[in-house]
Amino acid sequence: MEQTLLRVEGLSTVFETPAGPLTAVDGVDLTVSRGEVVAVVGESGCGKTMLALSILGLVPPPGRIVSGRAVLGDTDVLALPESQRRQVRGKRASMIFQEPMTALNPVLTIGEQVAEPLRVHAGASRRESLAAAEAMLARVGLPDPGRQLGRYPHELSGGQRQRVMIAMALMLRPELLIADEPTTALDVTVQGQILALMLDLARDAGTAILLVTHNLGVVAQTADRVAVMYAGRLVEEAAVDAFFQGPAHPYSRGLLASLPRLDAPGRRLTPVPGMVPSLSALPTGCHFHPRCGQAFAPCADNPPPLFDLPGGGQARCWLHGA
Ligand SMILES: Nc1ncnc2c1ncn2[C@@H]1O[C@H](COP(=O)(O)OP(=O)(O)OP(=O)(O)O)[C@@H](O)[C@H]1O
Ligand SMILES: [Mg+2]
Repeated sequence: MEQTLLRVEGLSTVFETPAGPLTAVDGVDLTVSRGEVVAVVGESGCGKTMLALSILGLVPPPGRIVSGRAVLGDTDVLALPESQRRQVRGKRASMIFQEPMTALNPVLTIGEQVAEPLRVHAGASRRESLAAAEAMLARVGLPDPGRQLGRYPHELSGGQRQRVMIAMALMLRPELLIADEPTTALDVTVQGQILALMLDLARDAGTAILLVTHNLGVVAQTADRVAVMYAGRLVEEAAVDAFFQGPAHPYSRGLLASLPRLDAPGRRLTPVPGMVPSLSALPTGCHFHPRCGQAFAPCADNPPPLFDLPGGGQARCWLHGA
């Protein structure tokens, strides 16, 4: 039986700005089961990164979580004092960011950084933790791992730094890995390799992944479930097969239609017409209605709830509200 690992409930994150509060994450409900890979997709600015950061209590000021819970196992991560939340982040949940240079400390060696979680959270000695770090660097495919221990982040290539991030994130076999566009900063040729490596290691450790990506090809190949965000709200959640066979929300259909198709190579991309609305001027009702070809009477005035779909999954769309 599937066991729920992460339960996000009614999570909202707001930026206070001179122009008023902007809701970057708007009442998101989401679950991740143990060992499951859940992909979060949506256009730029729809709140994917803010959701990922909010779950671990890492929202940068002036952002602020205003409501909701993120329950890992039976721990409400957001209700913990920061010191205990740091423990959770070190041990039970880890995060990989898009740009590894921002997450690696430039003045510490690779060895010190990869070994640190073991020393801090598992009480290993310096020697033990360095030996384990070397073994982990070998697993993520860094050549000559013993020598890499003494190098600094700037001496590595982007791909090598991302491998180091993966090593750090999975060193303690966390229950949850949140990976925010973990390969987009890399060469296309190594993106696939590094993603496959991350997934392999996570599978071995039984680690569930919340994978933020804009690449629907990656979603199709790696995810068990998909969550689609639009203007801060979760608008669809579905098993990956059902999603690619027939997405329920018109926005999801638009995203899928914008994929280049192998069976019609000459076809132009059809992006969803129109633009993502600014958070300071959100449309009333369903935030997507001005761009939606199927909008009807209730859509402009009434925000739809998430409706259960007959085949499983949910869609925030009045078309499914019969
Ligand atoms: N410091 C800030 N002040 C005000 N608004 C912010 C701030 N940081 C982010 N936002 C807003 O929060 C919203 C969500 O941003 P987020 O980074 O989560 O988007 P995203 O879906 O990850 O986009 P991308 O695909 O480009 O990474 C955006 O509309 C953004 O303008
Ligand atoms: Mg982002």
